[in-house]
Amino acid sequence: KEKTLAMIKPDGLLGNYTDEVKNVIINSGFIIFKEMILQLDEDRAASFYAEHSLKSFFPNLIKYMTSGPVLVMILEKENAVADWRALIGPTDSKKAKITHPHSIRALCGIDSGKNCVHGSDSPQSAQREISFFFQEESAGQAVIQHDEL
Ligand code: GTP
Ligand code: MG
Repeated sequence: KEKTLAMIKPDGLLGNYTDEVKNVIINSGFIIFKEMILQLDEDRAASFYAEHSLKSFFPNLIKYMTSGPVLVMILEKENAVADWRALIGPTDSKKAKITHPHSIRALCGIDSGKNCVHGSDSPQSAQREISFFFQEESAGQAVIQHDEL
């Protein structure tokens, strides 16, 4: 089965949306394969969102993502990457409330910055992001353990 990386961002944890989001996850057929709560520091947040480093919103993004703990989860399901992206809805939570009222970002996001949840945008991203947080995991390719060599 395919794996993807999901995250409940600081506003989601602070706003007590964790249980509600997890219920949506379970009811949509995902398995929560692994999960972990952690606090990102500026370097780690910048590295996670490195693709956006030149965007004007980047400083705000780093401030937001380091403002409190996040919950990262490896979700597993057939077509997990695309299905989780569909479930969270558009980046801008204000638009999500209008165009995707049943999406997670419509439920708990505030605007295009504070949007409550993250999802990997491709199988390649999923693999990178899962390895970023869970060193022993890889979403796709088999990993040869050192002791097997
Ligand atoms: P992620 O799942 O978090 O990667 O969101 P996304 O894939 O829907 O959007 P994208 O990767 O383009 O942007 C990453 C994050 O940067 C978003 O989730 C927002 O938190 C933030 N962001 C994106 N666009 C804007 C914007 O126009 N303004 C602000 N303030 N933040 C933005
Ligand atoms: Mg993204």
